[in-house]
Amino acid sequence: MSRSAPLLLLAVACGGGVDVADAGYLPLDIPDQPLRGLDAAQKATFQKGDELFDLTLRDGDGLGPLYTAAACGACHDQAARGPGLVQKFSAVMADGVTPSPDQSRFGYGHTEHPLTTAGATTPILAPMNAPDVLVSRRVGPPVMGRGYLEAISDQTLIELAQQQATRDDGIHGRVNHVIYHSEPNPMSPYNPHQKGDSVVGRFGLKARIATLDEFTADALQGDMGITSPLRPTEILNPDGLTDDLKPGVDLTLASVNARADYMRLLAIPRRVAHPTGEAAFEKARCNGCHVSNLKTRADYPLPQLANVDAPVFTDQLLHDLGVGLADGLAHEDGEAGPRDWRTAPLIGLRFSKHYLHDSRADTVAEAIEAHQSEGSEANDSIARYRALSTAEQQALLEFVEAL
Ligand code: HEC
Ligand code: HEC
Repeated sequence: MSRSAPLLLLAVACGGGVDVADAGYLPLDIPDQPLRGLDAAQKATFQKGDELFDLTLRDGDGLGPLYTAAACGACHDQAARGPGLVQKFSAVMADGVTPSPDQSRFGYGHTEHPLTTAGATTPILAPMNAPDVLVSRRVGPPVMGRGYLEAISDQTLIELAQQQATRDDGIHGRVNHVIYHSEPNPMSPYNPHQKGDSVVGRFGLKARIATLDEFTADALQGDMGITSPLRPTEILNPDGLTDDLKPGVDLTLASVNARADYMRLLAIPRRVAHPTGEAAFEKARCNGCHVSNLKTRADYPLPQLANVDAPVFTDQLLHDLGVGLADGLAHEDGEAGPRDWRTAPLIGLRFSKHYLHDSRADTVAEAIEAHQSEGSEANDSIARYRALSTAEQQALLEFVEAL
């Protein structure tokens, strides 16, 4: 109780606006805050997962043979964006963005794994100076509020896609149907899937994975060379290595689940209300894709996130954003094509200095402009944004920058 008074004062002193959540709840300036109302056991789970998320793994922990970074926090610092990133590459046609039918030269996949250890000598690198290869970057996105994203039912996303199919402004998001590629996770109430199941993807910049524990296992395996019971094999590598300095599976299911639970327990940062900005956001139809609120399902196993309004500002659907943002990758992310992206959740934007999947935009205004290009579903919305008065545009930017 003694802490709430100074927090309230702080909120008044820096914001000046009306607090959307309960007054005095979360500090405005810390990205990786736990959900409100956690019990002691949940607080301990959060703490433990937070430590593992930031822990730098070493050779003796099973790092490699190939890897990109040695801790989740290297690419999701304080659960926010970057600074670490992943490079992808694809052979493209003369237009520079359409994937070539022949991708056979990339026998080790389309993802760079630049670092070697545990006896490996040959990294997987994006080809240099190849005019027909498009190299793209994916900067680690924020992981705040992802529990809410997991808690929204498949049916809600399917219905959103059905509603959008009847719109007349070009917005027509699609569910990414993906295959569950991992072993089952009998310890997790969040993941009922069996290998080979068709599931609704929602995590990753192209919504290629359904649950946070599977994403964690995928990141451990792909970004860090750390095997787990969900993903027990090392990625294919040019040295033909099948293990590293720690024989067998590198870490336990409990350790995977602890990292996933940490992300489930991360709050959506507290917002300060901005009615004129939100009205301009709706007038420009940004909320056609960045759906401001979705109800979570009643049977989500984490009670704090069950049957609540989730201010996620996404429909978690894939949209064609045109040639301007294309990465030339086909068949890498389920049904997502080379121009498709999942509507970015506008969560914790106030902690970002760069925006979009590759951090190409240095301001929110630049990020908005980048939605417009040949074939983009957002073109009508961007035209409406440009038609706003200067004051309305300013209010919209203030609103989005403070999310
Ligand atoms: C080398 C950088 C890097 C490392 C290390 C890394 N990530 Fe990521 N992470 C990314 C990138 C890039 C994406 C987007 C990937 C995609 O679209 O396929 C991502 C996406 C995610 C997402 C999906 C977020 C969303 O909005 O859907 C989660 C969850 C996540 N990472 C968790 C983790 C965890 C847990 C670890 C540690 C086990 C980890 N990451 C390690 C770069 C990294
Ligand atoms: C057709 C769907 C659609 C519409 C309409 C749309 N967006 Fe987006 N938005 C997206 C997608 C998809 C991304 C991710 C693109 C990427 O990362 O390359 C995105 C990304 C963003 C980002 C970057 C977020 C981040 O974390 O880096 C901002 C900011 C944003 N949109 C704001 C807006 C605003 C403001 C409007 C209205 C003027 C708008 N968007 C309209 C689909 C849409």
